[in-house]
Amino acid sequence: MSADAATTSRIVWLSDLHFDASDRVLGHDPRARLDAAIDYVNAHYGDARLCVISGDMVETASAKNYATLRQSLDRLCLPWHPMTGNHDSRALLRTHLPLPETAMPDFVQYEIALPQARLLCLDTLMEGSGKGVLCQTRLDWLRERLAAPDDGRPIIIFMHHPPMALGLPMLDPMRLENGETLLRILRATPAVRQLCFGHIHRPVAGSIQGMAYCGLRSVLYQAPPPRPDWTWDTFAPAHEAPELGVITLDDGRVMVQTLAFCPAGFGVASV
Ligand SMILES: [Fe+2]
Repeated sequence: MSADAATTSRIVWLSDLHFDASDRVLGHDPRARLDAAIDYVNAHYGDARLCVISGDMVETASAKNYATLRQSLDRLCLPWHPMTGNHDSRALLRTHLPLPETAMPDFVQYEIALPQARLLCLDTLMEGSGKGVLCQTRLDWLRERLAAPDDGRPIIIFMHHPPMALGLPMLDPMRLENGETLLRILRATPAVRQLCFGHIHRPVAGSIQGMAYCGLRSVLYQAPPPRPDWTWDTFAPAHEAPELGVITLDDGRVMVQTLAFCPAGFGVASV
């Protein structure tokens, strides 16, 4: 093992697969897009520790879609960890996709402990709504995890719904309903250094209350930028290539890179 491998961990981060076993989604082929992402990861980031997928695993929650998705994801040469998004069914996801042993019994919420960081993956699904929520049970689990003694490892929070408005008029109303409560809990733990979320299908990065945050493009289709103005009546996916994230953990540092994984000419709207 090289010195770099001994001290550095990388995490591959995918979001918003919107997988469908047979249909196209908004003019895009979800199977081809996911295959391209998997091929890229296997070719270039096979040394990463694991892959986290921050929700909207499927476009429509059905047993067939989840079962077919599992077959595709099992091609990844890394352990992979699914999360819930507003398109998911918690029950179907739990039935068809593997979860870590640390997962809560009734939710898709768990911790992954690495030598360089602790990852807390939150289940923000509010069944039947585009918005997200963290109920008392899920918040209590989070408080308990955050109460563990600080051992110097940074804590990275993964979730589907962003807990704050991001200047995206069509998407901000669909954020985490009790995001203020979550941020209040997180900011009380200095080890929480990075929030990573999906849902918005757009790249965004910043900091809030001393914590860095990052939103990731979808593996499948992208939301248009906030300007020029658009509404759900005029919505059409942006002509932007999909991306995945690679998070490097090194000696207490957290670095997020976003990478376009489709070859030139393959990445934009109609694939
Ligand atoms: Fe999504």
